[in-house]
Amino acid sequence: MATYENPDDVVRLLEEDHQLVKSRLEALAAAPADGRAELFWKLTNDLVRHEVAEEVVVYPAVRDVPGGDAIADARISEQSEAEEKLAQMEKMDPASPEFAQEVAALKSAVLEHATAEEETAFAMLLGALAPDRRIELGQRYTKAKDAAPTHPHPHAPDTPPGNVVMGPLAALVDRVRDAAAAV
Ligand SMILES: [Fe+2]
Repeated sequence: MATYENPDDVVRLLEEDHQLVKSRLEALAAAPADGRAELFWKLTNDLVRHEVAEEVVVYPAVRDVPGGDAIADARISEQSEAEEKLAQMEKMDPASPEFAQEVAALKSAVLEHATAEEETAFAMLLGALAPDRRIELGQRYTKAKDAAPTHPHPHAPDTPPGNVVMGPLAALVDRVRDAAAAV
C-alpha cells in the first residue's frame, strides 16, 4: 500500500477530511452554549467544501466503476440530507437546548454517512483505480475544495440569527459549487 501513502492520493485526502469533520463535530458537541455559533460555522465551512468537492470530482469517478452509480446515488442523497439539516440549524438559536439536540443528531448522521462512504465509495476507488489516477483525482479534489475563498460567518457570533435574507449556508454552497465547477 505504499502508493496509498502518497499525500495526494484522493482516498487519503478524503479520509483526512473525515477526521477533520469528526473533530469539528466533537468540538461543537462539547462547546458551551455561547461558543456554538462560531464552531457551527467552522464545521459548516469544512463540511460543505468537502461534500461539494466530492460531488464534483470524486463521485463522477465512482460512477465510472461498474456498480458505482447506486453507491454514488445513496451517498449523495445522505449528503443532501445533511445539507438540509445544516440549513434548518442555521435558523435556530445556537445557544438553545433544541440546537444542542440537533447537533447530536447531525453528528451521528454525518459519522454514519462517513463510515458508509469509506466502506463503499472509497473502497471502490482503492480497488478499481490505478494509483496514478487516484493521485490525479486527489490534486483536483484539493483544488475544488479550496477554490472558493473563506469568509468569516456574516453574523456570528454577535448578531442574532434570522435577519439575513439568503442564509450564509446557501451562499456558501453556491460559492463553493461555482468555484469547484470551474476547476
Ligand atoms: Fe465524505
